[in-house]
Amino acid sequence: MTLRYALSPAVTRTSAPCIPQAKAWGATYAAGPQAAGPLLDLSQGVPGEPPHDTVLSALSKVAGKPAAAQYGPILGEPSMRAALATELRYQYNLSDGDLKAEDVGITTGCNMAFLILLMCLCPPNESSILLPLPSYFNHAMSLSLQSVTPAYLPCDPTQNFGPSLEAAREILSSPTTTQKPRAIVLVTPNNPTGSTYSPEVLAEWLSLAREHAIPLVLDETYRDFASTGAPHDLFQDPQWRDSLITLGSFSKGYRIPGHRLGSITAHPDVLKQVATVADCMQICPPRAPQLALAPLLPSLREDMVRYAGALRKRLVDFDAAVGSVPGWRVLSSGGFYAYVEFPEAYTSDSGKKAVAAALGKEVSRVGSRDVGHALATRCGVLTLPGCFFMPELDDRIWESVRGGDAMHEDRWIRFAVANVSDDTIAGVADRLRALNSVMGM
Ligand SMILES: Cc1ncc(COP(=O)(O)O)c(C=O)c1O
Repeated sequence: MTLRYALSPAVTRTSAPCIPQAKAWGATYAAGPQAAGPLLDLSQGVPGEPPHDTVLSALSKVAGKPAAAQYGPILGEPSMRAALATELRYQYNLSDGDLKAEDVGITTGCNMAFLILLMCLCPPNESSILLPLPSYFNHAMSLSLQSVTPAYLPCDPTQNFGPSLEAAREILSSPTTTQKPRAIVLVTPNNPTGSTYSPEVLAEWLSLAREHAIPLVLDETYRDFASTGAPHDLFQDPQWRDSLITLGSFSKGYRIPGHRLGSITAHPDVLKQVATVADCMQICPPRAPQLALAPLLPSLREDMVRYAGALRKRLVDFDAAVGSVPGWRVLSSGGFYAYVEFPEAYTSDSGKKAVAAALGKEVSRVGSRDVGHALATRCGVLTLPGCFFMPELDDRIWESVRGGDAMHEDRWIRFAVANVSDDTIAGVADRLRALNSVMGM
């Protein structure tokens, strides 16, 4: 039956969620003889451990109270805003006045924080946002839904996938820009590359944003996993509120992705506008997890440090496992992810023939989609190919990306290590060797 009504082009032209696409490859492998062994799922950035016991028991107690079923304040429970402000002051070595409860709003997850912020900052059809390439797919999708143009900042694979400041300077000073840049968005530690930007680099980005009178928006979903103490010192600047906005998530550090809590830290004047949008989108963020977590946050610091340490060790082990396989290497890692380069030999003529034999399709060039597909369906390792974090490889789009040649090579695969055991990590090396033989190496 065909629809007798139209859907919004802004939605229909937005890429479909990519994780189900990868999951379908995994399902194909799982339905077959599983020749390489059981499916190893390293596709999704979700915590493999349950929340801390005290969180689980507080959640079950609070969820049973009638108050938790009522609507709450739009920007979150006062107790939760105050508790998060305390945690941020602790994490960033700040004193009381540097960051207050009024600077923090609670949202229904960090993705919603991003979308709300986008609506606050960007008039549709006349705005652009500077976004790193590769970019977190839900950021790119949110821009598309809001008819905001991404101005891509290519990351340098030889420099730990740092985004290009030169490209940003060029975009921001280009008088021909019709889609006015409204913000610079960076993600650190990054999804998909795992790269963590140093405090010095982030200070440069903030001063560039300030120079052009636009905000620097930092998505710090993985802030609890930054390897170096305070993730940055931008909040030490007494004027931070004039140009800095940070987004946070409770999904990774506190391991409660299903309870949907995130945050926006910004000037209270921005949060006033955030409340207008949030009132329409969420009315209030989920109350039970806020009421359960607020009194517990300081007591969870130790557990968070332990969990972050375990993931860092897993990434080191993963690096060694991948590095033992000819042609494969981890180029950057951090947080939940390692960004891995596949062998250059795969892109040769014999690689093309091997892809045709392995996947039953001819390709004009071998890219990360083919390798991710073959790795899943032939060797039982589910990952997300780097192309899921880039626009469709249409030459017209690529020509417009200043300095994007290296990224255009499309030679990287994202492995998420948080949701698997240390043994699984060790098992990946054998599967990569198996793929090398499939690819005729
Ligand atoms: C960079 C980034 N931002 C936001 C999110 C979504 O976080 P939340 O679960 O809080 O919506 C993710 C989840 O993977 C992410 O990687």
